[in-house]
Amino acid sequence: MVSARVKVGVMISGRGSNMAALIEASRAPDYPAEIALVLSNKADAPGLAVAAAADVETLALSAKAYADKDAFEAALDAALKARGVEIVCLAGYMRILGRAFVEGWSGRLVNIHPSLLPLYKGLHTHERALADGAREHGCTVHLVTPELDDGPILAQARVPVLAGDDPDRLAARVLAEEHRLYPAALAELARRLRAA
Ligand code: GRF
Repeated sequence: MVSARVKVGVMISGRGSNMAALIEASRAPDYPAEIALVLSNKADAPGLAVAAAADVETLALSAKAYADKDAFEAALDAALKARGVEIVCLAGYMRILGRAFVEGWSGRLVNIHPSLLPLYKGLHTHERALADGAREHGCTVHLVTPELDDGPILAQARVPVLAGDDPDRLAARVLAEEHRLYPAALAELARRLRAA
């Protein structure tokens, strides 16, 4: 039997503030998803301790321990499937995933990106928005496809760019929106999955 709440795996490489926002949201009794596993490609990712302190299972796997990228990603896939994960959320996972993994999770693999896609794919989004003189900026939750930062958009949040902004100030304003947007977008996807 499929459990009522959708099991989610969160993949991180770093501090995990979006992961923490997802864990926090999932504590609400009516939230349609639960975080079954936090998976990192870095054993020293600070987010792992945050997840463990919240009583969420964690696992770190190093790509170096595998013969190649496909073998590593097959191990990630197996770890997620072993926990009954149905949706995978990338939350600051800093490796580009290969086609086999991405296609295997098609429609159920989600990412959060700190820009208003399709603007500013890739890295250093805040610096680039400021350099362009953008008046607004924001974040996007999208489904992952093999093309980087290119999949169907699930949700976006906008913030103004203010006089005197530097990349850190702008990033902080965007991050506050990320922490609201990601849990909301995941809830919607989880409800849709259950209704399907
Ligand atoms: C966030 O800005 C997210 O949009 C991007 O990577 C950063 C991760 O931050 N994909 P955190 O680890 O969730 O704090």
